[in-house]
Amino acid sequence: MQVNDSTRALWTTRLGFVLAAAGSAVGLGNIWKFPYITGQNGGGAFVLVYLGCIVVVGLPIMMAELMIGRHTRRDAVGAFIQLEHRRSFWLSAGWVSVAAAFIILSYYSVVAGWTLDYVFRALAGSFTGQPAEAIEGIFDGLIGNGPRQLLWHVIFILLCLGIVIGGVQKGIERWSKILMPILLVLLVLLFLNGMFSKGAWEGIVFMFRPDFTKLTAGSVLEAMGHAFFTLSLGMAAMITYGSYLSRNENLLSASLRVVILDTMIALMAGLAIFPIVFSVGMAPGQGAGLVFKTIPVVFSKITGGYVLAILFFLLLAFAALTSAISLLEAQVAYLIDERGWGRKKATSFLAFLAFAAGVPTALSYNLLSDWTLIGDLTFFDSMDLIASNYLLPISGLLISIYVGWFWKGSEEKEELIAGDAGWIYPAWHFLIRFVSPTAVAIVLIFKAKDTGFFNWIASLF
Ligand code: PFF
Repeated sequence: MQVNDSTRALWTTRLGFVLAAAGSAVGLGNIWKFPYITGQNGGGAFVLVYLGCIVVVGLPIMMAELMIGRHTRRDAVGAFIQLEHRRSFWLSAGWVSVAAAFIILSYYSVVAGWTLDYVFRALAGSFTGQPAEAIEGIFDGLIGNGPRQLLWHVIFILLCLGIVIGGVQKGIERWSKILMPILLVLLVLLFLNGMFSKGAWEGIVFMFRPDFTKLTAGSVLEAMGHAFFTLSLGMAAMITYGSYLSRNENLLSASLRVVILDTMIALMAGLAIFPIVFSVGMAPGQGAGLVFKTIPVVFSKITGGYVLAILFFLLLAFAALTSAISLLEAQVAYLIDERGWGRKKATSFLAFLAFAAGVPTALSYNLLSDWTLIGDLTFFDSMDLIASNYLLPISGLLISIYVGWFWKGSEEKEELIAGDAGWIYPAWHFLIRFVSPTAVAIVLIFKAKDTGFFNWIASLF
């Protein structure tokens, strides 16, 4: 279905777009994952590599995705139909992205459900005055409890449904304008708390003093993979959000705003977390449990911990919500644009599917803990492996190769120079043609090797 500018709902203001796109980018990846992988990979040097990946791979691909969306004014699959034709190989880039959005939403909303659970536990004062083992046990208890996770999972999906059903302007943009400023205020409060704690200097040194001996090839791959995830690339979200962007906007400055906000928020989250972790003498390398185990223990020990815990888990929940709505919208746009569905029906249907697909995830560490899908991975870990390690890089690779080498004519150039950013074209073109695809291909090959993909192929013969 062809849609033109006068019939498609567009973001009402540039701020609306920036907040919605930054809302998509800023999520559990920034506040949960970035600090813990920084902790595991030794701090400063990892942060530097990550920043490099954001600039040379993340930013160019984000611009490419927004460009595709804005040019075609369609969802991720429809965009490639319009640019090529129905049977084109490049449609696979759209399909892989939408599939990734579907899979990621299913488990992202389970983890988001945990954050809601923790908001209520923080309100109830469950961490105050408890010994560390008891607090850490709360998390094990939660993931061991299927029904409780399912309840929060449904509640979270219903929140997403409630927002996305309102549409681009009255749903996503309006809520992003409410949730993102609150998120920023919460983060600034927690950041200041970190900076005034006695572990402040240790935290700063940990994050910013590079020690390259701690950097491994694996850390570099992790940094690159995370740059993708944190900017919501390869998941149809930015193509879809780009399709609601006005042609008068300068793509470079719009993308830069989103990338800078996302990066600043990840760094501030690290500076909110590490100083207080150090101030109570705990270690930063706990891994995935950093936010759900270490942090509540820290809050139980510091003054003001009751209030800080509430603020922190609210921050996580809001960040997760604005990201999840972009994953839902990316799929809803497909049903609306390509299948002619109404928004209400499309949103309700996909929210139900996301809920259903998330059920085995919520049961992965309890009822279904013996059920392994890929190797010895649970359903949850298998979904994460498929989406984050394969689908995202594959779609990023296809998109960068398509935009760099196969987008016919000068359309993409015109898209870019439309907002007076002509000078950036040569640099962007170089990155998207050579640097981004090479970097993403390397990540993909190594991840495939690490996760035994080649052995699996060999075993078939
Ligand atoms: N960028 C989000 C995060 O950092 O948590 C995750 C995400 C949201 C990925 C939306 C992809 C997406 F489409």
